[in-house]
Amino acid sequence: MTKNIIKRWWNAVCEYSHRLLTTGNKSIFKKTILVYYIRFHYFNNFQIKMYKEFLKKLVTTWSINLKMRQVHYLHLFNRTEMKVSSMQKAILEVKALKTVFKDKKKNEKVIVDGIDFEIGTNEVVALVGESGCGKSMTSLSLMQLLPQSGEIASGEVRYRGKNLVGLNKKEMAEVRGGKLSMIFQEPMTSLNPVLTIGFQLTESITKHLKVSKVEAVKIAEDWLRRVGFPEPTRIRKEYPHRLSGGMRQRVMLAMAMSCKPDLLIADEPTTALDVTIQAQVLDLIRNLLDETDMSVLFITHDLGVVAEMANRVIVMYAGQIVETADVRTIFTSAQHPYTKGLLQSTPRMSGAIEKLQPIPGTVPPAGAFPEGCRFAERCPVATATCRDKMPELREINSGHKVRCILV
Ligand SMILES: Nc1ncnc2c1ncn2[C@@H]1O[C@H](COP(=O)(O)OP(=O)(O)OP(=O)(O)O)[C@@H](O)[C@H]1O
Ligand code: SF4
Ligand SMILES: [Mg+2]
Repeated sequence: MTKNIIKRWWNAVCEYSHRLLTTGNKSIFKKTILVYYIRFHYFNNFQIKMYKEFLKKLVTTWSINLKMRQVHYLHLFNRTEMKVSSMQKAILEVKALKTVFKDKKKNEKVIVDGIDFEIGTNEVVALVGESGCGKSMTSLSLMQLLPQSGEIASGEVRYRGKNLVGLNKKEMAEVRGGKLSMIFQEPMTSLNPVLTIGFQLTESITKHLKVSKVEAVKIAEDWLRRVGFPEPTRIRKEYPHRLSGGMRQRVMLAMAMSCKPDLLIADEPTTALDVTIQAQVLDLIRNLLDETDMSVLFITHDLGVVAEMANRVIVMYAGQIVETADVRTIFTSAQHPYTKGLLQSTPRMSGAIEKLQPIPGTVPPAGAFPEGCRFAERCPVATATCRDKMPELREINSGHKVRCILV
C-alpha cells in the first residue's frame, strides 16, 4: 500500500516536472510541490526524513532537467545555425506536391495543395497544424502509402535527388523501411497482427542492415530496451494486440530506428506515450541525431516538443503551408495570424500565467475549402480582400515565408 502511494506520488511529480519543463512555468512547479506535500501527509504516516529524501530527489531531478534543458537549448540553436550549410545538401525536396482523394464517382477533393519544402542533412523539420489540416496525408504521400482512394495528382518528392513519385511498388519498397523510415500515427495499422514483434523487428533489420538472424535478434532487443522495455526478450515474443497503444508506438519507434534511417518521418510519435517515456523517446531521437546524419520530419501537435526538437517549422493549414521559418523565428516573431493563434493556445515557455486563447472555429474539411484565404473565417484580422484572392506564400526574410496579404 505504502509502496503504491510512493509510486503514484513519484509518477505524478515526474509528470508535473515534465509539464514545468514544457511550459517553463515555476508557479506550476511550486503548486505541484504544495499539493503533493499536503496529499503525502494526508495519506500516510511516513517519517519526515523519508519525505525530505523525496523532496531532495525531486529538486535534483528538477535541476538536472533544467540544466539539460539549458544545454539542449544551446545545442538546439547551434543546430539551427548549422542549418544554412546543411540545407545546401537537401536530403528531401518536395515540390508542388498535390494529393487528392477520389470518390466512386471520380469526384476529386484536394487534401494536400501544392506544398514545397526541403529537409537538409541532419535537420529536424517540424510539421504542425490542427487536426485535419493534412499533416498525415503529406507524410503518407512522401512514403507513397496513401489509402486506396488517395493519389498524388502532381508534384515531386525528391529523395537524394531521385523522384519517388512514379516508382513502382518494388522500387519503393527498397527505399522504404531502410533509408527512409516512418513511424505511423496509428501503430496498430502498421504492425502485422499475426506475427510476433520479434519477427517483424528482425525481418526489417536483416533485410536492411544485412546482418545474420542472431545479430538481428541482438539489435532488436537492444532497441526494445532503448525505447523503454525492461524485458525485451518477453516483448519480442508478444503479438501486437497484446500490447497497449503506447507500447506499440514504442515498438514502431524501435523498428524505425533500428535500421538507422537517414530520414525518419515521425507522425505524432510521442502522443500516445506518458510523459516519462515521451522524454526518453525524444532523448533517443536526439542521440541518434548526434550520432548519425539522420534527418527528421517531425509531425506533432505539441509545440513544446517542437521547441525541444526542431530546427525549422512548417505550419500547415487546410492542405497548404501558411508559414515556415526556423524554430527561433516561429517562437519569437511568427507573422501569420494562424501561427500566432496556435502559439496563443499553447502554454508559453516563460512569463506569468496567461489565459490560453483557443482559435475559434475549426479547420474547413477537405473538399470545402473557401475561395481566397482559407483561414479567413477564423482570422481575427481578416478583411474583405482576404476572401477574394488566395494569398501567395511569400518570403519576407531569408528562410521565413508567410501566406498572408497583411504581412
Ligand atoms: N481515407 C480518406 N478518405 C478521404 N479523406 C480523407 C481520408 N483520410 C483523411 N482524409 C481527409 O484528409 C484531410 C487531412 O487528414 P490528415 O489525416 O492528413 O490530417 P492530420 O493533419 O494528420 O490530422 P490529425 O492531427 O488529426 O492527425 C482531412 O480533411 C481528412 O478528413
Ligand atoms: S490573408 Fe487575411 S484572412 Fe488570411 S491570414 Fe492574412 S489577414 Fe487573415
Ligand atoms: Mg495525422
